[in-house]
Amino acid sequence: MKPRILIINGPNLNLVGRREPDVYGSRSLDEYIDSLAESMPGVTIDRMQSNHEGDIIDMLHEWGYDKDLTGIVLNAGAYTHTSLAIADAIAAINVPVVEVHISNVWSRDAVRHHSMLSPVCRGVIAGFGLDSYRLAVLSLLPPAL
Ligand code: DQA
Repeated sequence: MKPRILIINGPNLNLVGRREPDVYGSRSLDEYIDSLAESMPGVTIDRMQSNHEGDIIDMLHEWGYDKDLTGIVLNAGAYTHTSLAIADAIAAINVPVVEVHISNVWSRDAVRHHSMLSPVCRGVIAGFGLDSYRLAVLSLLPPAL
């Protein structure tokens, strides 16, 4: 069976492409993820986006015990910095979660330097623009070397 990855995007990430293009670029995430999926025919990539904290928790519960899911790539947007509830959901599930950010959060305002989620994630990838998602997917696949 092909590796299967779920990409979950949180609040305001539906606006990437239009939102603060100097920070997040001018390409939409949907378009980027379409190209990513096309460039990785050996991987099944599913995606979800919600602006609501509870929806993100529900998605983690729904998918987080799926034995056929290789991993979850999560950009929780601003909830990264505030949500103990999302951290608890990640800690509760079996599927590994990689935290992703488009921007380099440590080069931005101090409120973005702390993540509630990093301690319970397998790892963090940030600052590579939309390519952060590709790097996160690769990190969940068996090592190529
Ligand atoms: C973000 C960084 C967060 O601080 C911010 O609230 C976002 C996007 C990123 O992808 O760079 O919404 O997660």
